[in-house]
Amino acid sequence: MPEHAVLFTLRLPDAEERRAARDYRLMINSGDRPLTADEIVSRSQEVDAVVCSVVDKMTAAVFSRLPARVRIVASFGVGTDHLDLAAAKARGVVVTNTPEVLTDATAEVALLLLLGAARRAYEGQEILRSGRWTGWAPTQLMGHQLTGKRLGIVGLGRIGQAVARRARGFGVEIHYSDQRRLPPEKEEGALFHPTVEELLPLSQLLSLHAPSTPETKHLLDARRLALLPRGAIVVNSARGDLVDDEALIAALRSGQVGAAGLDVFQGEPAINPGYRSLPNTFLLPHMGSATIETREAMGFRALDNVDAVLSGRPATDRVA
Ligand code: DGY
Repeated sequence: MPEHAVLFTLRLPDAEERRAARDYRLMINSGDRPLTADEIVSRSQEVDAVVCSVVDKMTAAVFSRLPARVRIVASFGVGTDHLDLAAAKARGVVVTNTPEVLTDATAEVALLLLLGAARRAYEGQEILRSGRWTGWAPTQLMGHQLTGKRLGIVGLGRIGQAVARRARGFGVEIHYSDQRRLPPEKEEGALFHPTVEELLPLSQLLSLHAPSTPETKHLLDARRLALLPRGAIVVNSARGDLVDDEALIAALRSGQVGAAGLDVFQGEPAINPGYRSLPNTFLLPHMGSATIETREAMGFRALDNVDAVLSGRPATDRVA
């Protein structure tokens, strides 16, 4: 009988569940719907580690109610905005995330959003699926080509850099803003702008890659949207609360923003209904990291962190 017990707050891919069941007494939320705070606390009573994810709101109240035997909360994902890291520190529980392994998958989705929004993929799908396609026509569904456009990246971290590398392949010129200028080997020719205000007016394409913090909440609001060139394409594969939804919807209606590609939403899964009725949105259900390869790598990374802490070693991906 394994010495330690681990809780998975949601189902993970088979390979991870098999590994965890081999090494630990595994408790899985087999219902596979997000647990409430009370359920996380009650199911944690008999475990030494909790593997949670972005949908679990690990608040100060949850951390303070975790039993003392829980030594690690290993989050399956890179973002940490659902975790109260200060409360975790105060409680003395190790918290880890899964950086790096989802960079490529998320960058691919950012490109999918850019292409889908710029090339009117939603409208194309609609016409076909509804049986309304009457055949090819010279003026049908004309979108915007990426070639030769300027892409503004807010946050040139790992994922922003991976997006830039891919976008260069489409003949796009890269500009970015970040808290500070990056060294040349990370810029790879991208042009730095010290403020978002300086970046926006030249961003015919805009991709958000900032973390969700109190400072970045509604980073893209009505005032900043007005700084974009008219008809700009906006994509968000980072976090929904970077965008003021009402302001973006108004900009999409007025044509100030030509199209938006969104994979993340404030208050998801309850998305602002305004997005659904607009033809110039290309919407995905938070699937940036959803490839078999990446989800497996994320789970193994989370389990590596659990293994380390439960065997008395430091965790590689400690964030608290
Ligand atoms: C993350 O890792 O933070 C994503 O949003 C979920 O894959």
